[in-house]
Amino acid sequence: MEITSESVALVTGANGGIGTAIARALHAAGAKIVLTGRRADALAPLAEEIGARVIVADLALTEDVERMHAEAGDIDVAVLNAALPGSGPLLEYDPAQIDKVLAVNLRAPVQSARHFGERMAGRGRGSIVFISSISGKVATAGQSLYNATKFGMRGFALALRGDLEAHGVGVSTVFPGFIRDAGMFADTKVSLPAGAGTRSPDDVARAVLKAVRKNVAEIDVAAFEQVLGAQLFAISPGMVNALTKASGGEKIAAAMSEAQKHKR
Ligand SMILES: NC(=O)c1ccc[n+]([C@@H]2O[C@H](COP(=O)([O-])OP(=O)(O)OC[C@H]3O[C@@H](n4cnc5c(N)ncnc54)[C@H](OP(=O)(O)O)[C@@H]3O)[C@@H](O)[C@H]2O)c1
Repeated sequence: MEITSESVALVTGANGGIGTAIARALHAAGAKIVLTGRRADALAPLAEEIGARVIVADLALTEDVERMHAEAGDIDVAVLNAALPGSGPLLEYDPAQIDKVLAVNLRAPVQSARHFGERMAGRGRGSIVFISSISGKVATAGQSLYNATKFGMRGFALALRGDLEAHGVGVSTVFPGFIRDAGMFADTKVSLPAGAGTRSPDDVARAVLKAVRKNVAEIDVAAFEQVLGAQLFAISPGMVNALTKASGGEKIAAAMSEAQKHKR
């Protein structure tokens, strides 16, 4: 769909590294922006910068998700971006922590797609963009919860795309790999092996604009070796897991999860 000055775009997790870039890009494309996140103070500077409306909502809470929907009004572009890292071995998580990751990363986007999708279908236009991850295509040891939510998001989005096609509503999923400069990987300060490629938050934001404008089903925003790894994983998960282990990938995942422990 075309993005115009009449378009209203909502971004969840808007104060995060990638959410901020997406909100700025949609604003630069002409849309009116609704920023959501769980901390008003963290959202305020960006809201002022781009003249956005703010809805504070903790997406782990059903009542906050419903209130966010009620307060949002008519939305033309919904970018469902908020997530927790959900990293580390499952056996380190207690039941409440597991529920929180599932709620923020999967239940909230599904409920939002249900809510906004119905209204978009009624108007015969709109776009829903899910921010998944290359971890929605490649499962690695120590990432089971994150993999569960990001793989789940992929299947949900592909099926929903079929449901909403006839109603003029686009559904897309963007799959970032390692993102430098800002966001949940950059925040860990974990170094990648020499030569490992990264992409920027602005690269993800450009992919979102393309997804909305052209209604592209899926876009990878990742270095060549990660995209190739995802394609090979679809054919032979065991082989890719062995390669990941041999190249030290599990150690990187462990270092990331250590640095992200405070977000459980
Ligand atoms: N960075 C990467 O390398 C990378 C790679 C692949 C995929 N992704 C995906 O990209 C998306 C954005 O991630 P990011 O890198 O920008 O991470 P980030 O900087 O940690 O941002 C995540 C956002 O989600 C929000 N959030 C977390 N829990 C929430 C809750 N209970 N209620 C409402 N909002 C909540 C955070 O709010 P607070 O600031 O209040 O916690 C923050 O705004 C995520 O879906 C992530 O899985 C990122």
